[in-house]
Amino acid sequence: MSRANSQLKIAVLISGRGSNMQALANHVETPNASYQICLVAANKPADGLSIASDAGLSTALIDRKSYTSKQNHERALAEAIEASGANWICLAGYMSVLSADFIARFEGKIINIHPSLLPDYKGLHTHERALADSQKFHGVSVHLVTPVLDDGAVIAQMRLPVRSADTQESLSARVLVLEHILYPMVIGSLASGAVTLDAGQVCWQDISVANALSLPEDTTLIFG
Ligand code: GRF
Repeated sequence: MSRANSQLKIAVLISGRGSNMQALANHVETPNASYQICLVAANKPADGLSIASDAGLSTALIDRKSYTSKQNHERALAEAIEASGANWICLAGYMSVLSADFIARFEGKIINIHPSLLPDYKGLHTHERALADSQKFHGVSVHLVTPVLDDGAVIAQMRLPVRSADTQESLSARVLVLEHILYPMVIGSLASGAVTLDAGQVCWQDISVANALSLPEDTTLIFG
């Protein structure tokens, strides 16, 4: 199904609804697509797997419950990724902290999307915590994965103003819209060379990629 020519081949890891995976897959269907999705894998039964399968993507359920240890589960996951031909891994709502061994096996090639303006609000419940702190701004980050949770170099972020009437639901819905714009843009930029990651350093070579995006009002794109 892919029209991409690039060598950027990704495995997308999910645990749930898979809306970011869907956004990445939608981009593959556009004339400007620059990467391929080799595999969508989940660590538990996930709605996103049937969405991926319906879109013609290769899928794998590598259920954590079928393995006696995290190490064995991650070994099976790594082997499936390598067998798929993927050379990058995109975490998209993958709800398990990857071990240092797994991250070392794919060093510098694992990207995550996190619903906060990192380094603020690592971990869970980001929208709730931003609201509790009366933050003026909130948003989403795409970053490199390192063994420290949500700590790797930020590649790009999108920021929006928090409204006084925002609830956790309204804020997360507005951030999700940004997630679906940001993630394909970043992966496409990695594929085209508009951004390079060298030894954990993010270097934007061409920020004109931003011109092609239609961002919701009051949204700011921040290059890492
Ligand atoms: C997203 O908010 C993502 O930023 C976070 O987990 C959520 C996954 O949502 N890491 P979806 O499964 O992509 O819809």
